[in-house]
Amino acid sequence: MKKAIITGATGLVGMAVARHLTSIGIEVLSLGRQNLSSEDISRSFGLGSRYLQLAMAEIALLAEHIELMEWSPGDECVFFNFAWQGRHKLTDGTFKEQLTNAVYSTEALRTAKKLGCIKFINAGTLEETVVEQFLLGKTDDPFQSTQTNYALAKLASRDMCKMVAFLEKIDYVHTRLSVPLAPDLTKGSYVATTLKKISEGVPYDRPKNMQLFDIILIDDVARAFYLIGLSGKNKADYFIGTSRPATLAQYFEAFESLVNIRGSENADFVTPKNLNTVNFETETLHRDTGFIATALFQNLLKALRRP
Ligand SMILES: NC(=O)c1ccc[n+]([C@@H]2O[C@H](COP(=O)([O-])OP(=O)(O)OC[C@H]3O[C@@H](n4cnc5c(N)ncnc54)[C@H](OP(=O)(O)O)[C@@H]3O)[C@@H](O)[C@H]2O)c1
Repeated sequence: MKKAIITGATGLVGMAVARHLTSIGIEVLSLGRQNLSSEDISRSFGLGSRYLQLAMAEIALLAEHIELMEWSPGDECVFFNFAWQGRHKLTDGTFKEQLTNAVYSTEALRTAKKLGCIKFINAGTLEETVVEQFLLGKTDDPFQSTQTNYALAKLASRDMCKMVAFLEKIDYVHTRLSVPLAPDLTKGSYVATTLKKISEGVPYDRPKNMQLFDIILIDDVARAFYLIGLSGKNKADYFIGTSRPATLAQYFEAFESLVNIRGSENADFVTPKNLNTVNFETETLHRDTGFIATALFQNLLKALRRP
């Protein structure tokens, strides 16, 4: 991989991947809708990075834009697709609003092929795996999700992209994340906001949900995507995680101990044995790319306290 095109590069995951790739000498073209100054571009994506303001509705016109800006994907360019939106946040909105993202992803894939990219890497979510258990008849649990439209649209995105990649003859790699987290907790998901409250001693509501999550720090996520760009296999579906899932209550309690109890640097949690961890399998990713998450949840506090 000598070059990369990244949609959703102004977001949490896309920006981290753009910065990481740029820092190791890969030529990156970042895409987003914001109007950014050249200072913003260097600060956000790394020195020397290029940026194009382009809505996903226009993604089919990317080749023309690239020509105008005198950039070329060359013959070893990987396309990373992170653009996604709900109505107010990533996961909300009607089914139609969510499904529009799946249509854009498929258009992006066609565009990647047109540009001669060697691989298309799409971002999915653990939520789609949860929903898929019902489709596959693998669970008798009652269906409960606050993100049904998001999860269904993500499944549609994966399957449409897989099929179109096969028809267009371009390698397609699917990825899934549970909870990527910026160490400064700036991007406001529920988990980030709650951890921030805990770090500031502000009371929070203890989650009762027994679902497992896998919090992974964003630097690890960026490194994983780089390795997938290098050696991720066609048609693979990689879960990018730490292989140590826990309930949110466990994460929050461990973090509370880290924050409040002197000498609690080793505060930790154990994945509950009675819960199904099969969706969090990271061995395939490790086998194909060598990726292992190295940043411990405990590092979060150190990063937060860094001046
Ligand atoms: N964050 C999580 O907890 C999480 C968990 C699992 C999976 N994921 C998946 O990972 C991917 C990246 O997530 P994220 O957390 O980085 O999301 P994010 O911070 O909300 O960023 C979304 C990005 O998509 C861009 N975008 C949205 N709609 C667009 C459109 N119509 N045209 C052009 N750009 C558009 C946004 O650009 P603007 O700046 O122009 O809005 C932004 O750069 C998504 O596919 C998400 O579903 C995230």
